[in-house]
Amino acid sequence: MNDFHGRKAIVTGATRGIGRAVSLGLLERGAAVFGLYGSDEQAAQRLAEECREHAPRLTLVRCDVADYQAVQNWYEGFEAEYDTVDILVNNAGIRRDQLTALMDRESWQRVLDVNLTGTFTMSKFAVPLMLKQKYGRIISVTSPASYLGFLGQGNYAAAKAGQIGLTRTLAKEVARKKITVNCVSPGFIDTDFIGDLTEEQRTTYRKLVPMKRFGTAAEVADAILFLASEKASYITGTVLEITGGL
Ligand SMILES: NC(=O)c1ccc[n+]([C@@H]2O[C@H](COP(=O)([O-])OP(=O)(O)OC[C@H]3O[C@@H](n4cnc5c(N)ncnc54)[C@H](OP(=O)(O)O)[C@@H]3O)[C@@H](O)[C@H]2O)c1
Repeated sequence: MNDFHGRKAIVTGATRGIGRAVSLGLLERGAAVFGLYGSDEQAAQRLAEECREHAPRLTLVRCDVADYQAVQNWYEGFEAEYDTVDILVNNAGIRRDQLTALMDRESWQRVLDVNLTGTFTMSKFAVPLMLKQKYGRIISVTSPASYLGFLGQGNYAAAKAGQIGLTRTLAKEVARKKITVNCVSPGFIDTDFIGDLTEEQRTTYRKLVPMKRFGTAAEVADAILFLASEKASYITGTVLEITGGL
């Protein structure tokens, strides 16, 4: 299922966690993957080595999605070489938790810049390339924090809620051009992203989940791959929860 042969996919935050699982899934199913990452060169190198058999179809680029000019420059080079793109997965994300009253402006701004403005900028430049061929799939990774509101995550919740608003709007703007725009909303997923949780916190959060376990990056990737496939042709403007029932 989900054959991506001949498809070009851009994945942000491609080198670790959920983005890594998405990149592996796309590569295994035949896509060419253009993976953006932030600063962890070793993680990028590890993924490149792991995917050696798919090397001709994997391009990894260090590019801060919050840097508008850097993203624009990268897209210009991409368009000159590849003309169109089929799939964009807006997955890059960070947390900088602090109670709202104590949060400094930098933590507020950086989380908004990476998680929300990054999604805007990456999507803004992908859409014209998708319009050229009247086909595209945009999937952004939001979070139940957007509506549950976990303590200390005001910046993160605001950014993730913003992604949903952007998704619903963009979905309507491009619907007639056979471009679908959706979010997935993972619950607690076992990646570096929640690596700072203490054992006690992990136990508490696991109890909150009806399935009584955290999800895996591969489980989220499977849902993203479905939304990225041709089969998901009549699904747009939605948020797919992958939370174990949270
Ligand atoms: N894990 C969870 O429980 C969970 C739950 C709900 C939603 N999410 C969302 O899922 C997405 C992926 O999370 P994850 O758990 O896979 O996180 P992760 O393991 O920490 O991986 C994050 C990835 O994003 C990249 N990245 C960070 N900042 C970037 C930037 N400014 N520009 C480009 N790339 C950047 C990182 O690159 P470097 O390594 O180079 O920094 C890394 O490849 C995030 O949007 C997160 O909010 C996660």
